[in-house]
Amino acid sequence: MTNTELLRDFYARYITAKGECKDPRIQQAFATVEREKYLGPGPWNAYTQAGYVSTGTSDAAVLYQDILIGLKTDQGINNGEPSLHARCLDAAAISRGETITHIGSGTGYYTALLAHLTGGAGQVVAYEIDPDLSAHATSNLAHLEHVRVVEESGTSAELPRSDLIYVSAGATHPLNSWLEALNDRGRLIFPLTPPNRGLGGMLLVTRVAANSYAAKFISPAKFIECIGARDDATGESLISAFASNTTAAVRSLRRKTPADQSAWFVGADWWLSTSGPDDFAA
Ligand SMILES: C[S@@+](CC[C@H](N)C(=O)[O-])C[C@H]1O[C@@H](n2cnc3c(N)ncnc32)[C@H](O)[C@@H]1O
Repeated sequence: MTNTELLRDFYARYITAKGECKDPRIQQAFATVEREKYLGPGPWNAYTQAGYVSTGTSDAAVLYQDILIGLKTDQGINNGEPSLHARCLDAAAISRGETITHIGSGTGYYTALLAHLTGGAGQVVAYEIDPDLSAHATSNLAHLEHVRVVEESGTSAELPRSDLIYVSAGATHPLNSWLEALNDRGRLIFPLTPPNRGLGGMLLVTRVAANSYAAKFISPAKFIECIGARDDATGESLISAFASNTTAAVRSLRRKTPADQSAWFVGADWWLSTSGPDDFAA
């Protein structure tokens, strides 16, 4: 093994341990997909809340740490935190052959991991609204025949029926178009976040019946905004919901019904409940 391969192997073991992954395929996927192929030439800029820090080297070994790397530093667009995605990919419980929609693919690193997990019998459709990033993703992912990159907003496009919708930019609410594109037992994972990269959470929503959704928070999360999935008033209310530090109580997502006393958060035509999906009559 080369030094970079050894470091990639350590990185895969480290981030999947940190992300408390149960499925060994997640570690194998991170040990296989080469991060440097998706981030352009080095040196790279590592993100911190206090600003970017140059890696100072173009040695790919430096990328095998649990760090965010700038894709467009002037806009704060980064290649996301590996251990957070390890946790989310584990929670996504991807079976081989599934159809996956990725919204906010950036230059394609996590799209490639999704593609690895569903395998050649599956399909991944990746939406990236930024033309430059989308062009990079198209060329970076060209070797994967089961991946299609679309330069379009994942909030206004007509999405394919999906077993998994994996959103990599922060929304203030689950879009109806996302929930309605889910197959039976389909999963939606998205960052439910307040404005200005405020602290929110990665929400996993599972369609358990035609109009019944289990929901749970997987992890705290801070993200840049998903264009077309933001509502200012809802975003402001999310600040206090997350400040209560009670995300673990959430068990289901309800749509188009009045909220009851089990409500954890009430949005426009949706709400999160501390009761499970089975506690509501279908
Ligand atoms: C936090 S970055 C993550 C990029 C990539 N997933 C990664 O980790 O390398 C979020 C990405 O979502 C894209 N984005 C924001 N709103 C979008 C939308 N409505 N449809 C598609 N892409 C969107 C941004 O252009 C940006 O590339």
